Amino acid sequence: MMLELRDIDAGYGTVQVLRGLSLQLAAGEVLCLLGRNGAGKTTLMKTILGLADRRAGSIRLDGVEIGTMPAYRIPRLGVGYVPQGRRLFGEMTVAENLRIGQLAGDGDEATRNSALAMFPRLEERLGQRADTLSGGEQQMLAMARALCLGPRVLLLDEPTEGLQPSMIALIRDAASALAAGGVAVLLVEQRVEAVLEIADRVAFLENGRLALDTTPDALRADESLVHRYVGV
Ligand SMILES: Nc1ncnc2c1ncn2[C@@H]1O[C@H](COP(=O)(O)OP(=O)(O)OP(=O)(O)O)[C@@H](O)[C@H]1O
Ligand SMILES: [Mg+2]
Repeated sequence: MMLELRDIDAGYGTVQVLRGLSLQLAAGEVLCLLGRNGAGKTTLMKTILGLADRRAGSIRLDGVEIGTMPAYRIPRLGVGYVPQGRRLFGEMTVAENLRIGQLAGDGDEATRNSALAMFPRLEERLGQRADTLSGGEQQMLAMARALCLGPRVLLLDEPTEGLQPSMIALIRDAASALAAGGVAVLLVEQRVEAVLEIADRVAFLENGRLALDTTPDALRADESLVHRYVGV
């Protein structure tokens, strides 16, 4: 397994969010994580990144325990992160944002160039300030920035939030292409219909617990599952 979480309890200070959570993600797989607002989806990503307080359980990357490592080491091991709301450096240029992505890991120029090649629109805007990009372009930049470290695992937190359909398709295609190239992709989304086409597996988080770990086919066959867990 590329990424293996076992019996994770985690949260912030005295607030516990994740409870006994176990999850596995293989290389080349897209696992979509769904759940209501506040279920703990972002906290799960932060826990993998060492940015939340893990109280119990283990997190293994390629068999190596990373749950006890300081947060700065985790990107260097090949864990890329596209945070919810993108978190770009707005006053910096596209090129500078990408440079920061490179510095978080040990991505070389070839890695940066292949990240940029996925998003030609960014290539034309290297000198432009990030906060002047369109919403879709900003999301491309957030993704390209994460790819600059050459991730083996990519954590995408609601990357299509607020985007129009053509941009959503572009972001989803990029996630699929990365998985086809062997990257393990953990994708958080709000809407189940946004993920069925690209997911290999779909998991539901409910009050910090993994309520269901299933396949897109099983969900298509039984819509009541979706209603029960996401309440759409
Ligand atoms: N830094 C923090 N300190 C204390 N509690 C926090 C902190 N960040 C998040 N929480 C709490 O943890 C719970 C889970 O939040 P989280 O952001 O993981 O949910 P989510 O599933 O990503 O929700 P959304 O769909 O709205 O993004 C919430 O109750 C939230 O208030
Ligand atoms: Mg969230």
